[in-house]
Amino acid sequence: MRVHVADHPLITHKLTVLRDARTPSPTFRNLAEELVTLLAYEATRNVRTTPITVQTPVAETQGLAISDPRPLVVPILRAGLGMLGGMVKLVPTAEVGFLGMVRDEQTLQPAIYAERLPDDLSDRQCFVLDPMLATGGSLIAAIDYLFARGAVDVTAICLIGAPEGLAAVERATEGRNVTIVLGAKDERLNEVGYIVPGLGDAGDRLYGTV
Ligand code: PRP
Ligand code: URA
Repeated sequence: MRVHVADHPLITHKLTVLRDARTPSPTFRNLAEELVTLLAYEATRNVRTTPITVQTPVAETQGLAISDPRPLVVPILRAGLGMLGGMVKLVPTAEVGFLGMVRDEQTLQPAIYAERLPDDLSDRQCFVLDPMLATGGSLIAAIDYLFARGAVDVTAICLIGAPEGLAAVERATEGRNVTIVLGAKDERLNEVGYIVPGLGDAGDRLYGTV
């Protein structure tokens, strides 16, 4: 598994505002989208491309086009939906599929409650969007689901990750082509499975349920 933690003052600045408990939902939503666009730049570093020739007004030249099959972007509902706009701004030709997952707040076990993905993901590059990587349970379940459908590589974009969750994903995905791009790697999980210092419940903050 490859892990890339962003190291850029603009990303840290935006994450700092996102973490602030006083930041209201509309600002939180805008910042989440902006952060994904910045992280997507790194996350798509290995997107598959095909050499093509184009004619400029001046001369013929070689360039690249994103290969078929197109990348598949998978936001994990509910909070990952807040990242979709920022991702498709950068990769507008990507296909979008959906996975709905919820973590039981007592057991911390994830459950899939909705799915709308292509049946066959053979040879597909997948980009999973989920703002929080806490215990890693949700991301592991999502990655397992995509590989079981034939995906060949999965890149997850998360705004904040905990060391415990990263280690769990690494153990669970050994030998698979998995990359995680993070805005920040935080200190730890607390006794109820929240990331410290984190930003609280991402879904609640995005959708104003706090
Ligand atoms: C949050 C978050 C992740 C998950 C992370 O979702 O968006 O999907 O928790 O926790 P884990 O790494 O311990 O599995 P939640 O289950 O709260 O659902 P929501 O997006 O609907 O708020
Ligand atoms: N889910 C969240 O939204 N926040 C956390 O800190 C952990 C899981």
